[in-house]
Amino acid sequence: MEHLTLRTPDDWHLHLRDGAMLRAVLPWTAAHFARAIIMPNLVPPVVTGADAAAYRARILAALPDGAEFTPLMTLYLTEDTDPDDVAAAHESGLITAVKLYPAGATTNSASGVSDLAKVQGVLERMAEIGLPLCVHGEVTDPSVDIFDREAAFIDRVLDPLRRRLPDLRVVLEHITTSQGVDYVKAHDAGLGGTITTHHLVINRNHILAGGIRPHYYCLPVAKREEHRLALRAAATSGDARFFLGTDSAPHTDPAKLQPCGCAGCFTAPNTMPVLAHVFEEEIALDRLEAFASLNGPAFYGVAPNDGTLTLERGAPDLPPQIDTGDGAVTVFDPGFTPRWRVTARSAG
Ligand code: DOR
Ligand code: ZN
Repeated sequence: MEHLTLRTPDDWHLHLRDGAMLRAVLPWTAAHFARAIIMPNLVPPVVTGADAAAYRARILAALPDGAEFTPLMTLYLTEDTDPDDVAAAHESGLITAVKLYPAGATTNSASGVSDLAKVQGVLERMAEIGLPLCVHGEVTDPSVDIFDREAAFIDRVLDPLRRRLPDLRVVLEHITTSQGVDYVKAHDAGLGGTITTHHLVINRNHILAGGIRPHYYCLPVAKREEHRLALRAAATSGDARFFLGTDSAPHTDPAKLQPCGCAGCFTAPNTMPVLAHVFEEEIALDRLEAFASLNGPAFYGVAPNDGTLTLERGAPDLPPQIDTGDGAVTVFDPGFTPRWRVTARSAG
């Protein structure tokens, strides 16, 4: 097979940042994806409907001429979030989901939730109105080993939450463990799991063996090889509960390459070539469309895109870094040359 055409994909978890960084990274996503769920962890975070409307306007203003891209906005859940504000933002079509960051779990999560009891009212309202909760699934308890934080979150937080609120639609985002895969698989269509590009490619040795590689450091951190294999099996299975959320998270090289470097991999430019490569290795190219273009819309109850994206066999021509007004950002290096490149996108 020399060509591969799929419905235009969506990215169900994306960091676009703001200002010069937004203007530099957005065109890479808008070139391949028709829609993306935009993470609200700006400084200060996107907490109210008014914040989300203003951020959405800044994203639309940063789009290249002629780009066909719709940002799907989220609100950052805090212990002060007003259920009426959330419901109004949902009712008007402004927001697609609310994001739960356990306070302190990751980049700009200081305003997140420490005590879930304090957001019970918001979560009940979301369950009533059918508004999904996107979850960063890691406990922040410093006594829990960082490689165990996702599994501990599932047992200590996610499962009790879902039992309390069985009607709340939940996305366990960027799953990195076989426990995450198994938990999603064991539940019904009210629970989805997103998987990133990079967690299909790297395990923890890539970060730490033979030298420390800050560009592979992200959160949740990549785990053992057996977990990467579980993620590859889930992503390529066609199971509708698993879909693409790249978690493409740009940081400038100076911010990554310092004694305490930032978490995040910038995968927007090469996600589709890398995914096609991975799915071909798994003899599952025919299921790439389900993962990247169909399962996410089905979870969120929206139609898949009408347009198409075409890839052809051959190495993509991508820069190792992109320039932003804030500094260089390194593009995720999968450690191999993808066998596929994107050649065309057509409108529906
Ligand atoms: O690696 C990550 N980077 N994980 C997150 O949860 C946040 C993100 C960021 O915003 O940089
Ligand atoms: Zn993220």
